[in-house]
Amino acid sequence: MSSSTAQQDLTAYVNGAFVPLEDATIHIEDRGFQFADGIYEVVACFGGNFLDLQPHLERLQRSSEGVRIPLPCSLNHIAELVQQTYERNPFKDAMVYIQITRGAAPRSHLPHGELTPTLIITSRLLPKPSDAKLATGIKAITLQDIRWKRCEIKSIALLASVLGKQEAALKDADEAFWLDEEAHVLEGCSTNILAVIDGALVTHPLDHQVLGGITRNMAIRVAKEHGLTVVERPWKLSEANLTEAMMSSTTNAVMPIHCINEQMIGDGKPGKLTMQIRSWMLEAMDALRSA
Ligand code: PDD
Repeated sequence: MSSSTAQQDLTAYVNGAFVPLEDATIHIEDRGFQFADGIYEVVACFGGNFLDLQPHLERLQRSSEGVRIPLPCSLNHIAELVQQTYERNPFKDAMVYIQITRGAAPRSHLPHGELTPTLIITSRLLPKPSDAKLATGIKAITLQDIRWKRCEIKSIALLASVLGKQEAALKDADEAFWLDEEAHVLEGCSTNILAVIDGALVTHPLDHQVLGGITRNMAIRVAKEHGLTVVERPWKLSEANLTEAMMSSTTNAVMPIHCINEQMIGDGKPGKLTMQIRSWMLEAMDALRSA
């Protein structure tokens, strides 16, 4: 099925019921709508088998604890609902979206009493990077980080990321990467970033400035399994011997970056290690399809 599949063919899970996507609505006083008071996850499924579902669910739990929104049900039950949402929709390779908000209540910053969290789950076609983008690598820009200081939480408050993506698009780029005050490269609006410096895979350590990407972890894992050196440390674009850069996310696996701020990375072509790591990751995804 294509991404143009009619809306009426799609099914969403909303607070205890599976409903046609067109009829899937929430209250206008939902705190997710009014305060971005919520958290989310995006999980990829290949031919019926989810990639790293457990780590995604564990991150959802950490996010829920980080913002004090109780999970509406157990992680096991959420896993079942995720599976059922996938099965009720027509996509073999899908990205399943899970969002939990604090619930609906008359608007007041301080939440009063026990609210019932809102849980919605949708399944959409997993977007694939185009062959053209893979052949050249993507173009990116950098921006000063204007986000909040709890980026390890997967919060639905994504206005800074929306603005960053717009800035990138205005410059004909695909992603904007956030820089800290000292110009260390943190992560993208919806991706992590890894570089190859002196032959080692380098990426910012996990702290409050970056999301602990599940795909970042996978890239690190496969790199280590194949004997590559991985270093988690702050790094800059100006470092000598920086030969490759790649971004990682659930919807991209890893994607080569060929230029940042109009400056070529390495020889301006997708990096060898980048494409090697990508192919190791795609092998694992193919294995899920045929499992
Ligand atoms: N974005 N950093 C940020 C800020 C992100 O929003 C994401 C994911 C990542 C990569 O995380 P993961 O590898 O777990 O997908 C890093 C998702 C896909 C989104 O918002 O659609």
